[in-house]
Amino acid sequence: MSNISVFISEEEISTRIKELGAEIRKDYGDEEIIVLCILKGAIIFCADLLRAIGGKTQLEFISASSYGNNTETSGQVDISYKLSQSLKGKHVLIVEDIVDTGLTLDRVLARLKKEEEPASMKLASLLTKPSRREIEVNIDYLGFEIEDKFVIGYGLDLAQNYRELPYIGLMNA
Ligand code: IMP
Repeated sequence: MSNISVFISEEEISTRIKELGAEIRKDYGDEEIIVLCILKGAIIFCADLLRAIGGKTQLEFISASSYGNNTETSGQVDISYKLSQSLKGKHVLIVEDIVDTGLTLDRVLARLKKEEEPASMKLASLLTKPSRREIEVNIDYLGFEIEDKFVIGYGLDLAQNYRELPYIGLMNA
């Protein structure tokens, strides 16, 4: 893996997630949080964040993809989900790996709001690339802000590869 360099280390990720988890639990108090993981990219972050939040949580999944096999968004977001409960009246925390143009989150939030009517909906994202934003998305809990670079690892893929890396990496040219 000599062509990949560490951009955000395992230790940095772990420290930040513990901070985020504590902040989230403090904000919600004893409330149950429905943690809604956006597959596939957020799965590793979500697994760690869920444990950092602790207390009363439930885990649900939603699948959203816009990328095909490229590093640029296709402009179309495919969303599918089959929840094991209704989210109506629940406190939902959406967990995403990265907010890039904002298109995916915009579509996911709009659809959930319309179809599920949760009591509240907040967003936790491990990464954001603000310079790429086309649609404004409010991130309630953010791990790291990064510049416009294509990153891989810790759940993030390039054509479905590299999700297993324990750190956020950069491909060297
Ligand atoms: P958006 O709809 O443009 O905000 O894109 C969000 C999705 O694009 C994320 O959930 C990722 O799957 C993917 N994505 C955006 N930037 C990167 C990156 O740097 N590496 C890997 N995937 C990315």
